Amino acid sequence: MSVTAHRSETIAVLFAKAQVIPVLTIERVADAVPLARALVAGGVRVLEVTLRTPVAADAAKAIMAEVPDAIVGIGTILNPDDLARAEKLGARFGISPGATPDLLRAAADGALPFAPGIATASELMAALAHGFDFAKFFPAEQAGGIKALRALAGPFPQVRFCPTGGIGEANAVAWLSEPNVAAVGGSWLCPASDIKSGNWAGITAMCQRTMKMLQSR
Ligand code: 3PG
Repeated sequence: MSVTAHRSETIAVLFAKAQVIPVLTIERVADAVPLARALVAGGVRVLEVTLRTPVAADAAKAIMAEVPDAIVGIGTILNPDDLARAEKLGARFGISPGATPDLLRAAADGALPFAPGIATASELMAALAHGFDFAKFFPAEQAGGIKALRALAGPFPQVRFCPTGGIGEANAVAWLSEPNVAAVGGSWLCPASDIKSGNWAGITAMCQRTMKMLQSR
């Protein structure tokens, strides 16, 4: 197994165990720790902190320091610099919405378990050419939904996915029932309105409901 394939396996195993990966967009660093604690209390431990806000790196650091049960990865990695930032922060994994040749090269040369984002067969072929056989399928619902993912399973039976984009309580089980889906990602477990109002109990309750639903399927 190549080094990159080995790292794809690491992230695939981590995600398969988690089943749901909340995509966190944190606007205020003070929200980071209570948000992560609320998710962990609801049984959701693998967290994607997106590099979408100025405080993202500080938010990720705070969670890593103060919420030991959280497994923190960095998302919205758009270029090799973002990837280097994620590695420096001590992220357990990196994930991107898409991939450029530069990013794929840097990720293949780097040490971080990484899932490149793909939406087409050609993008998946580029990822595979760099050794990545675990990918984020993004934007999952908008790029053809479950039918599109099933179609990709034909020529690419070795690839497992984390579909993200348009996934929520109503369709998470359907996606997770696909044999090539390890986990689903999304923002539904941490709505911006709940973060803004500090509705941590509401976030924990939603996580508990989702995890119960997944366990009873
Ligand atoms: C992502 O970056 O993965 C998406 O913004 C999450 O999509 P969602 O908000 O539709 O869950």
